[in-house]
Amino acid sequence: MTMSETAATKPSVIIDCDPGTDDAVALLMALGHDAWRVRALTIVGGNVEMPRGTRNTLAILEHVGRTDIPVVRGASRPLSGKYEYAYQFHGPGGMANTRLPKPKTEAAQGNAVDYLANQLAGSDPPRLIAVGPLTNIARLLALYPRAANALGGLVVMGGAVGVPDTVLPHGSEFNFRGDPLAAHRVLDGGTPLTLVHLGACLQVGLQREDMRRLEACGLLGRLAARIVSNWFRVHSNREAYHLPDPLAIAVAIDPTIVRLEPTRLTVRAEGESRLGETLLNPEGSEVMLVTEVDQERYYRLLYRCLGEVPG
Ligand code: BDR
Ligand code: CA
Repeated sequence: MTMSETAATKPSVIIDCDPGTDDAVALLMALGHDAWRVRALTIVGGNVEMPRGTRNTLAILEHVGRTDIPVVRGASRPLSGKYEYAYQFHGPGGMANTRLPKPKTEAAQGNAVDYLANQLAGSDPPRLIAVGPLTNIARLLALYPRAANALGGLVVMGGAVGVPDTVLPHGSEFNFRGDPLAAHRVLDGGTPLTLVHLGACLQVGLQREDMRRLEACGLLGRLAARIVSNWFRVHSNREAYHLPDPLAIAVAIDPTIVRLEPTRLTVRAEGESRLGETLLNPEGSEVMLVTEVDQERYYRLLYRCLGEVPG
């Protein structure tokens, strides 16, 4: 078998994202996992405006020499209202001031929803991981129900179950709050779904002293280290950088590193407050909820994907 045949027969994955610092680390992790092929990256507004997220993604791909991967623009607005953006958390540019050269490559023609539908209609449909607001995915399910049937399962980073209001001042997690209606529709849409909610993500994080290990990982790890170190500069009072989106990648790679529990939920999509809140509801849609992370195996996978050679 030739190298290109091997690449073509690997399972493939598309990541719908809004980079964002932890999205960036998630993409680097996904690029370093050699048992799958990253087929495309689709962009949604969320942490940053959609064009900015597109530029950040193209710049990351250029930096690591992966301009072969198409980047496809998606929604600039949620199904209703506006995204609130998270520059305060992710820092200037959404990448905590990490300066990468202006990308020379451009986004692919067309839009994320048509692109996803097309890819899912093919004979070798990709897996899908969504780590931003669910606007693109909700549109896909609405406009292309047949293509959506080809989704073997969707891994979503979003929502929060049992996370106290002291951690979530608005009563809801960022991605679900960004497009509550989309989150509600996707959960309700009948697609088998693994939900990597914020409570699970708060179980894993990096500290300043982890930067040395990351830097030793090679090209992917070094860029991750730059981004996370810059984030620590923006947030000089914070001790840990949590890793929501990389956890979604890890769960897609190896679901046995977490405990999954079938759970019925609904998402609050109406009203004046707490929009996007996930509510346990015996009448709600069933998801496989990540309840616990095997931290040791998670970190091993993270560093391995970012280029660490096992010792
Ligand atoms: C989610 O919100 C975003 O800021 C992160 O990128 C992640 O997808 C965590 O709540
Ligand atoms: Ca994200």
